[in-house]
This record gives sequence, C-alpha cells and structure tokens, in this order.
Amino acid sequence: MDKARVGLIGLGFGAEFIPIYQAHPNAEVTAICQRSQAKLDEIGDRFGIAARYTDFRDVVTDPNVDFVHINSPIPDHAPQTIAALKAGKHVMCTVPMATTLEEATEIVGLVRETGLKYMMAETVVYSREYLFIKELYDKGELGRIQYLQASHPQDMEGWPDYWKDMVPMHYATHVVSPLMAMVDGMAEYVSCFGSGAVNEEIARRSGSSFAVESCHIKIKDSDVAAHVWRFLWDTARQYRESIDVYGSKKSFEWELMTGEHPVLHTAKRPETEIAERVEVPDYAHLLPAEIRKFTRAIVDADHLSFIQGGGHGGSHPHMVNEFVNALLENRDPFPNVEQSANWTSVGICAHQSALKGGEIVKVPDFAKR
Ligand SMILES: NC(=O)c1ccc[n+]([C@@H]2O[C@H](COP(=O)([O-])OP(=O)(O)OC[C@H]3O[C@@H](n4cnc5c(N)ncnc54)[C@H](O)[C@@H]3O)[C@@H](O)[C@H]2O)c1
Repeated sequence: MDKARVGLIGLGFGAEFIPIYQAHPNAEVTAICQRSQAKLDEIGDRFGIAARYTDFRDVVTDPNVDFVHINSPIPDHAPQTIAALKAGKHVMCTVPMATTLEEATEIVGLVRETGLKYMMAETVVYSREYLFIKELYDKGELGRIQYLQASHPQDMEGWPDYWKDMVPMHYATHVVSPLMAMVDGMAEYVSCFGSGAVNEEIARRSGSSFAVESCHIKIKDSDVAAHVWRFLWDTARQYRESIDVYGSKKSFEWELMTGEHPVLHTAKRPETEIAERVEVPDYAHLLPAEIRKFTRAIVDADHLSFIQGGGHGGSHPHMVNEFVNALLENRDPFPNVEQSANWTSVGICAHQSALKGGEIVKVPDFAKR
C-alpha cells in the first residue's frame, strides 16, 4: 500500500478532514457518507468525490476503501466500528470509542482477532499544548511528575439536541487521554463524586442528575494520581479543555480564560519569579509539508466545536498523518485500541462510581498479554 484510501462517515466535523486527506501525499478520499443526500452531494461536488453513500454499510463494503474514518454521532461510533472491522476495514473513529464497556471489549477483541488497526482520533493528544508539555517532560525540564489534572467544562446550549441524551462523563476522553498519555499510563481504578443538579429535562434524558462529575484516577504501576472533572449543562463557565501538569522542577497550568497564555511555574526561584506566561509554539514542522497549513486552517470556522474548541489545538493533520503512517508502516497507531479502550472506559466507570456515592470502580484491563 503506498496510498491509504479512506471512506469518511459523518460529514459535520468529519468534513474538516477531507482537504487534509486530499493534500496528504499518502492518502486518498475514495468515499464519503452522511445521511442527507443534498449535503452529501454538496460536499462531494465541492471536493470532487464520486462515491457517495447515505448508508454507512455501503462504505464498509466498498472495495476501494482501506479504512473508515467515523465522525457520526456518539451512539453510532461503536456499532459502525464493529461493522467496519467485521467487513475487514481499518478504523479511525472520533471520540469516544464507545459508550459501554461491552462495546469497548468487543472492539478490542475484533482488532486482536483480525489484525486490523484501530485508532481513537483523540484531538487533545495531538494539540499543540499537549505536544508542548510532553516535549518539556521528555526533555527532563519538568523533573518528576507529581500530579496531573484536567477539566472539560462546556455549555452545550445550541448544540444538536441529541447531546441532551448523553452522560457527560461518557465523553471524558479529552481530559483522561492527555493525562494517561503524558505518563504512558493505563487507568486502573477510579472514584468519582457527582455534585449539584441539572434541570429536570436533562436529568431525565441523560440519566444523570449531577451537574458536575469529579473523578480521581489511579494509574496502574505508577505513584502519580490524576484528577478530571467535567460538565455540560447548568453550570456557569466558559468552555475549556485544560491540562495541568505538576512536576518537581516545573509545572504547566492552563489559562483561566480564552485568549490568555498558560503559565509555567519554575521551582526554587524567588516567589515573584516562579510563575511566567508562556506562548505555546505550533508543531506543524512534525508533519509532511503538504499538510502543515492545516494546523491553522479550518474549513468551517463557524462550527460551534471550533469556536468552543479553539480549533482543537491544530490536531487534525497530526491525527490524519499518524493513522495513515501506521497503516503504511503496518504498526500500531497512537493511541492503539487498548489505550483507546482504557481512556474511554475511565469515563464510563467514573459515572458508575458517582452513582454509588464515589465507590472505587475498577477499569477493565485491556492490556496485551
Ligand atoms: N474534538 C473532538 O474530538 C470532536 C469535536 C467535534 C465533534 N467530535 C465528534 O464528532 C462526531 C460528530 O459531531 P458533529 O458535531 O459533526 O455532529 P453533527 O450532528 O453536526 O454531524 C453528524 C454527521 O454524521 C452524519 N450521520 C448521522 N448518523 C449517521 C449514520 N447513521 N450514518 C452515517 N452518517 C451519519 C450526519 O449526516 C452528519 O453528517 C461526534 O461524535 C462528536 O463527538 C469530536
């Protein structure tokens, strides 16, 4: 294989990836799929793609497709992934991998059985902020990591109605993933507290009455603890997907408000010199020249996920490049299926824990044996 041929399923957020694949020297978009024919044709005409489907089952059986990139609504992620793997296609799927532990376990099993590749397209572990902190840590500048925390508050007013049916912690990967990835760790168990209350409609539809869920994570074979919290409704705060990493020498803290810069704290300095604002660099240089511009370019800049998501930290071309290279080099992508399942399961187990008043819940062990 010298070019990986992708079929894109779901063309809201998913449409952003079409020009990136088309510009990538080793990728090609051979099919697109979304439910309404009119929008499908509009996008197909705009990007010159002939194979257009309104039923995802036609993508997974198309012989001109090597892998699918799924960006459909959350409840469809696992069923479409499972169908694609069963049809012999590699899968890249947006977050989360699944909404039940059973689905995550089935996906891990199918990938092992078939030898196909799976990657959860976690934007945060390819964001420039994550890449910056990870680089500081790998160069030894942070020293020993002592504690990790992350937050994902987001007000979902104005988003498609189906978000009301969602348990917020079932979409916790943007906070869990960077913390686990930072220390190359797997979550072992969690204890989560629910706090406050959402309005009656959200509580009924989502099945979760808590306004905020706050979860501690025990990382396997590590003395570092991690803490994540998130909400979607009825709590006042600007959107933020923050990562804080506390090291023995330096610590990184996310900015409080959009438009500010994060803060780097350096130990052993006079008190007033410990904290300084830092500008996070872009990491486009890690990419093939043809797709570097996409760390800054957004096709649909009006989509709420970009206004609230700050363009996802320039992550889109990095994710495309990682999965295409993994296929061409016949290696596991990052994150691989076990990491994706572990990071996704933390949120599912956290909500179970919150329902039991904070009881410890073990995260299933998906590690390779
Ligand atoms: N930072 C991130 O990682 C990030 C950001 C935005 C969205 N997302 C994820 O992307 C997904 C899509 O989000 P969105 O905002 O684009 O949603 P959307 O509702 O705007 O678009 C959904 C798309 O999927 C298509 N679709 C729906 N059901 C389908 C089906 N059964 N088969 C084929 N296509 C189907 C729709 O036609 C539409 O094109 C969500 O799961 C969301 O979590 C992730």
